[in-house]
Amino acid sequence: MGSGGGQWIVEKRSSFRSEPLEVNVSETGCLSIVVLGASGDLAKKKTFPALFNLYRQGFLQSNEVHIFGYARTKISDDDLRNRIRSYLEKGSAKSEEVSEFLQLIKYVSGSYDTEEGFRMLDKEISLHEEFRNSTEGSSRRLFYLALPPSVYPVVCRMIKLCCMNKCGWTRIVVEKPFGKDLDSAEKLSNQIGELFEEPQLYRIDHYLGKELVQNLLVLRFANRFFLPLWNRDNIDNVQIVFREDFGTEGRGGYFDEYGIIRDIIQNHLLQVLCLVAMEKPVSLKPEHIRDEKVKVLQSVMPIKDEEVVLGQYNGDEEVVLGQYHGYRDDSKVPDHSNTPTFASIILRIHNERWEGVPFILKAGKALSSKKADIRVQFKDVPGDIFNCMSSNHSMRILLDHSIRKSMSVKQPGLEMSTVQSELDLSYKQRYHGVTIPDAYERLLLDT
Ligand code: BG6
Repeated sequence: MGSGGGQWIVEKRSSFRSEPLEVNVSETGCLSIVVLGASGDLAKKKTFPALFNLYRQGFLQSNEVHIFGYARTKISDDDLRNRIRSYLEKGSAKSEEVSEFLQLIKYVSGSYDTEEGFRMLDKEISLHEEFRNSTEGSSRRLFYLALPPSVYPVVCRMIKLCCMNKCGWTRIVVEKPFGKDLDSAEKLSNQIGELFEEPQLYRIDHYLGKELVQNLLVLRFANRFFLPLWNRDNIDNVQIVFREDFGTEGRGGYFDEYGIIRDIIQNHLLQVLCLVAMEKPVSLKPEHIRDEKVKVLQSVMPIKDEEVVLGQYNGDEEVVLGQYHGYRDDSKVPDHSNTPTFASIILRIHNERWEGVPFILKAGKALSSKKADIRVQFKDVPGDIFNCMSSNHSMRILLDHSIRKSMSVKQPGLEMSTVQSELDLSYKQRYHGVTIPDAYERLLLDT
């Protein structure tokens, strides 16, 4: 978690927050959102669609917000708009709404390591601010780095040098992976920390913005019946699993430097593990939640080699699934790459609650199905009198919006026999007409 003591987005949810983190900051006035890396995969697939959804729901007002895309590719405003249009025209989005939103986007092309492009960007943002602020004074600048971490320091230096807001706040959003190991994470933290104050920095992990991940705190601490069960006496093991049914697809260059552990396990799955395993925080204040998470991490024992399995997908899946090439077939991946695309790791938490309970973290790309879930496996009922085939029930929290608890019930009928059944809370069925926000919407709104 870095020596700078970062901010973790779930803890910054405004509804959970009792004190503002930055004092005396204006949350009104002209807002410029700058997406750096605007022509990349993340921006197209996640950032712009999330901004669009916030716009549709009225969180971003066309009379205050302007969005700037910045990247090296030399394209026009319209080229960028056309590139992202198809990612916005999904679900119930109307084509006019999409067009209106796209008009809020301006593109500036420039390199990441020279001042020229950033001076141009500043000029464009200032023009927008002057235009909007003819009546109001303050403005807000949010820089979202949809970029590889290797360029964070130089980009942050350029922002600091050329693009700081002179009459309002400037905030920087960076994503994981935040470095490759402790040294590089600390180095990155120090480099960025020299340029910006901690409250200006948002290090985000989009898994924390997922509805079901947010629900973990409520499930665990607002339901009395879980309180006595949630421990080593009753739980046999916990599995936190991420699977994707597609490969690295155009992201091979990035992925090969990091691998599945740094891409998924060290951040997304570990954050989930913390929420599953931590003690009840003193309150919902960001610092209190963070403190409990840190205690869990400090209690994790060194991982044993024999409890780690690594793998890499290859062309054989093509035969089975008819759709994949091998990982090394990606033109950006070196022919002899050993980077894992699959990993299964057992973590053991050495504390009173969890001693002896394995936490199995699994993640893989190009597997046979797509899912992300948490499975809490309960122990068998002692002294079974029903000859149950299985009384070791589980609770599954599926991040695509359902919670299922298996249980034994009496088989309906004259005989006294048991059958496995399920309590099933599927959000689609339970909450008709409720739109569940995408994780990135929540994160961007928070920042
Ligand atoms: C990202 C990873 O953080 O999460 C990607 O870099 C992965 O490799 C993605 O595909 C998965 O996110 P989600 O929200 O689709 O589960």
